[in-house]
Amino acid sequence: MSTYDRHAADYDATRGGAPRASAAAEAISSLLPQGGTVLDLATGTGIVAAELRRLGHSVVGVDVSDGMLRHAANRLPGSVARADAEAIPLHTASAAAVVAIWFLHLLDDATPVLNEVARVLAPGGVFVTTADKRAASRLSWGASVDDGTEADRPALLVRDCAAVGLDLAAATTFVGVGQATGARQDPVYPVLAFRRT
Ligand SMILES: C[S@@+](CC[C@H](N)C(=O)[O-])C[C@H]1O[C@@H](n2cnc3c(N)ncnc32)[C@H](O)[C@@H]1O
Repeated sequence: MSTYDRHAADYDATRGGAPRASAAAEAISSLLPQGGTVLDLATGTGIVAAELRRLGHSVVGVDVSDGMLRHAANRLPGSVARADAEAIPLHTASAAAVVAIWFLHLLDDATPVLNEVARVLAPGGVFVTTADKRAASRLSWGASVDDGTEADRPALLVRDCAAVGLDLAAATTFVGVGQATGARQDPVYPVLAFRRT
């Protein structure tokens, strides 16, 4: 059982719900190409994927948590599958775009996932990912940001993506709307776009 199976029922409500998903999707959409299918790696409940679809993108989602996927299947009927991001069920050089939202910070080492992203992207294809998830959260509490080693730290991501043929192309941010509580402000999350060489 995946850890996220236990959180599937309350995941959306405890992560900013539709306002967070909408803000994330707007930012990600601004970095995506028009046309072609977008693969949402670690789609979770599909809440961001559904917003990307509302913005006009064709989206399919994969995740390893059956609990999360049940919610995603309701949002994206016929367009979700159980798959590990380290073994993406797509042909080499077949995808126009891959996105990963609030995913890479969970990994000890993002390289196997980045290798797979680079493999499935067609030349010129785009990989869009959130970065600095935990640092953004710490800042929203007024806590200091250390030199953390999470796999989604921007400097590490740029280095590790370049090593597999993904060059930094653009960046933006989105506000984690709905996450402010007490003295905490809504976090601001970086989003980076890489182009497959
Ligand atoms: C923090 S949630 C983010 C979900 C969604 N992207 C969002 O922003 O709402 C992280 C997700 O990553 C999934 N996950 C963790 N490891 C994975 C892996 N190796 N391959 C695919 N999904 C994975 C979890 O099951 C969970 O649904």
